[in-house]
Amino acid sequence: MVVGARPNFMKAAPVFHALEKCEGTELSLLHTGQHYDRMMSDSFLEELGLRAPDVNLGVGSGSHGKQTAEVLSKFESYLLESPQDLVIVAGDVNSTVAAALASVKLHTPVAHVESGLRSGDRRMPEEINRILTDSMSAMLFVTEPSGVKNLAREGVDSSRVHLVGNTMIDTLKRFEPVVREKPLPIELPSKYALVTLHRPSNVDSQETLRGILDAFFEIAETTPLCWPVHPRTRKQLETFGFWEEVENHPGVVLAPPFGYVDFLGLTAKARLVLTDSGGIQEEALVLRVPVVTLRENTERPVTIDGGGNILTGPDPEKIRAGAKEMLSRDPASFQIPETWDGQAGERVAREIVEFLQAGGGL
Ligand code: UD1
Repeated sequence: MVVGARPNFMKAAPVFHALEKCEGTELSLLHTGQHYDRMMSDSFLEELGLRAPDVNLGVGSGSHGKQTAEVLSKFESYLLESPQDLVIVAGDVNSTVAAALASVKLHTPVAHVESGLRSGDRRMPEEINRILTDSMSAMLFVTEPSGVKNLAREGVDSSRVHLVGNTMIDTLKRFEPVVREKPLPIELPSKYALVTLHRPSNVDSQETLRGILDAFFEIAETTPLCWPVHPRTRKQLETFGFWEEVENHPGVVLAPPFGYVDFLGLTAKARLVLTDSGGIQEEALVLRVPVVTLRENTERPVTIDGGGNILTGPDPEKIRAGAKEMLSRDPASFQIPETWDGQAGERVAREIVEFLQAGGGL
């Protein structure tokens, strides 16, 4: 099993744990090193009860080409030294596509957890990673019905496609009771909105980021914001000279990135989530916290159909209106997919064992 970046760990853990229980299956955990800060990586492994990786490729940060190429080359060397019967990848980060490519070229079948999601936006690096990873995978584990349709449209043989539910939600369900009991990691007013922002399309342009900040400051007048800042966003805020203004704003509480349990607690107890993340749209839906997604599209349409999410893009006026709209909805009415039941990892493991017993295949 390959992991590399923050959003991988909670998707991989339930599959890893379910496979550990399957007799006769030998497992290795490989970390590409795409994320390396303690709070972006190791703290997640520890909290989720994943063992220390057997191998860390140590690729670190870089341009897309460089980062992807480093994983491709180093993972290929690893596979040549330690051949595997199957490589399991999760999500849509650069490590996912690179590991899948190295594997399939060495005739090692790939299983993709969280397959089939499509935003339709080919300017989004993750979309390219998803399309390519799915096209190389022998086993495609899908979280929501739209994924099955997307894969059928792309001509993927339906015998490879398994609608198993959402392994990230397995992790959420495992930790929800702990999270509800545990005090919040920082002091906050009783009603707050949780912010996460890191997409290049939102944080790499000064003008776009300025507009988003203006909308945030207005929302903060009535609903104070809690904002754990991603390392790349902090760098951009500093570069554009916005950091001090945000830090000194009376309605904004800035924080460093949190570990899994603390962040889930902050989501669970928030009145609203403002985000450009993918997974958080799903986590908030299950926790019944309304979401405003600062993107023009989502690869997770089930969160919109379920009533828990709205798309605004970076336009300040749309963000303000979106926040107002979502604050008016009743979270009890949100619809959550049936297969998001905490058992997805078990279903993935059963399929994988069957596949291996049948002799695999590309
Ligand atoms: C990656 C994923 C994105 C995911 C996000 C979650 C891709 C294409 N993108 O984006 O899908 O939502 O992870 O965080 O794979 N940095 C650190 N410490 C770290 C990691 C990153 O300081 O541990 C900084 C570095 O300046 C780095 C920048 O963040 O250049 C971006 O990191 P990178 O892994 O390239 O992409 P993310 O923006 O984190």
